[in-house]
Amino acid sequence: MSVKGIEGKVIVITGASSGLGETSAHELTKAGAKVVVGARRVDKLRALVKEFGLPEESAVEVDVSKQEQVENLIQTALKLYGKIDVLMNNAGVATFSPIEAGDVDAWDRMIDTNVKGVLYGVNAVLPHFKERKSGQIINTCSVVGHSVMRNGVVYSSTKFAIRAISEGLRQELKPHNIRVLNISPGPTESEGLRVAFGEASMPTAPSTAFSDAVIYAVSQPENVDINEITFRPTALD
Ligand SMILES: NC(=O)c1ccc[n+]([C@@H]2O[C@H](COP(=O)([O-])OP(=O)(O)OC[C@H]3O[C@@H](n4cnc5c(N)ncnc54)[C@H](OP(=O)(O)O)[C@@H]3O)[C@@H](O)[C@H]2O)c1
Repeated sequence: MSVKGIEGKVIVITGASSGLGETSAHELTKAGAKVVVGARRVDKLRALVKEFGLPEESAVEVDVSKQEQVENLIQTALKLYGKIDVLMNNAGVATFSPIEAGDVDAWDRMIDTNVKGVLYGVNAVLPHFKERKSGQIINTCSVVGHSVMRNGVVYSSTKFAIRAISEGLRQELKPHNIRVLNISPGPTESEGLRVAFGEASMPTAPSTAFSDAVIYAVSQPENVDINEITFRPTALD
């Protein structure tokens, strides 16, 4: 069922091959958006856009830690639709280990994906948003971007950085009529969560809690800028 304020919008989503990004791609499409989806596993993306009845070109292979590939994602969306209304910087990786384990490769991967990937996305879409004097940036933060999680020093650091980036963008981009949402999920059902925590059972929110929050923010009229949404499973502190 189409949703007022979503219908006809072009929404670029990074990290749409699984988890929160994939659910958002589904729910936003149902609500009437045209999504352009990016991730490294392009086969999964191709299957997704086929299911949505969207052009094959809406599935874009991208490693967000590579600036030129993020640029290509944005340019592909512009070539397809001539405009972008929303950029969802959602791709992210999480590895938890004590700092003294010195898992430097994982630190690099998290910083490159979770922080640089978001900055590259912003940089690539900004000229278009400024020209249109319109646009919305949605950054996926985390509750651990508000308080540090044990054994998650680097992951938490990347999400603290996202909060700083979102707030800084909100301030700087106001004159261009660009809206910025920082969304902070607690544990939410996804492939990524299962990989990070294995069989350890913990309460989780459904991934639609995330997409519902996105739909709420995107469907607001242009003069309403939703800046912060935090949610967590009811059963967790
Ligand atoms: N689920 C939770 O509990 C939770 C809580 C708080 C915040 N988050 C955040 O939510 C976001 C989505 O996570 P998720 O839980 O949905 O995990 P997920 O199921 O693992 O999804 C992560 C997505 O990011 C993509 N990705 C990873 N590295 C990438 C790269 N270098 N370039 C492009 N795409 C990349 C993955 O696709 P490919 O592997 O195909 O590239 C996948 O589509 C992340 O930013 C995560 O930090 C999740």
